Amino acid sequence: MLKTAAACGRFCMLRLLNMKPGEPTNELRSYGRRKGRKATPRQATLLRDLLPRVAVDLTAPSGRLPAGESGGARKKLFLEIGFGGGEHLVWQAEHNPDAMLMGCEPFEDGVIKVLDVIDRARIDNVRLHMGDARDVLRWLPEASIDRAFILFPDPWPKRKHQKRRLLNGGTLALLARVLKPGAELRFGTDIGDYARSALEAFQREKRFQWLAETPADWRARPADWPETRYEAKAHREGRRCYYFRFRRA
Ligand SMILES: C[S@@+](CC[C@H](N)C(=O)[O-])C[C@H]1O[C@@H](n2cnc3c(N)ncnc32)[C@H](O)[C@@H]1O
Repeated sequence: MLKTAAACGRFCMLRLLNMKPGEPTNELRSYGRRKGRKATPRQATLLRDLLPRVAVDLTAPSGRLPAGESGGARKKLFLEIGFGGGEHLVWQAEHNPDAMLMGCEPFEDGVIKVLDVIDRARIDNVRLHMGDARDVLRWLPEASIDRAFILFPDPWPKRKHQKRRLLNGGTLALLARVLKPGAELRFGTDIGDYARSALEAFQREKRFQWLAETPADWRARPADWPETRYEAKAHREGRRCYYFRFRRA
């Protein structure tokens, strides 16, 4: 019985890895709302005119990476999954002019915030996908990403919802395929139980090596990891945050 379950688990994982972007999967939805307030006229213009210019085109062949598009040829490609209001994404774009930042976020209000900054500050090294990051992970070529960030993904604290948590074995397998050997994956959370289940998933996925040497390494945020909006809220509400860095073997 157990053997059958394990075989089925492996089969499901292989199937999920080989699906095409946009193809319906049985993956559970890992995010909450897609829309908040009604867009103002300026925001509607940003969505109509700017988003198509900076959107990752998942209908293009997967080898056509944003790094080669009008933002100029960048040496590195960074990926942020679930950027929320985009503060960290924009900070990384501004501090890494040699990198193209790809951000994935299904929540329209967050995408609008980033479009607004891109437009006002004339940032040309950000590309966006307004949708599920797992579609981008399936579209990206193997070993194409230099650094990935999953910062404070939705905590789904209720026991019956925990299966919706984004950081699980399936997502790690998708990430392991697209990260370059030696690339870094950063994960932050303010939920102890999420930290624990994520570490277990990393332990099972042998292609990642945890970079922590002492507890200080996961208790403190590195200097080039600015505080996110969600993390600031967690701190205000007295929750401890955990900062994990892994290297793709
Ligand atoms: C709790 S918020 C944190 C936002 C931001 N990283 C921060 O720390 O302020 C988690 C975000 O992840 C997004 N998200 C959840 N599942 C996602 C997925 N499959 N692909 C992309 N983004 C996702 C949600 O829409 C939400 O904005």
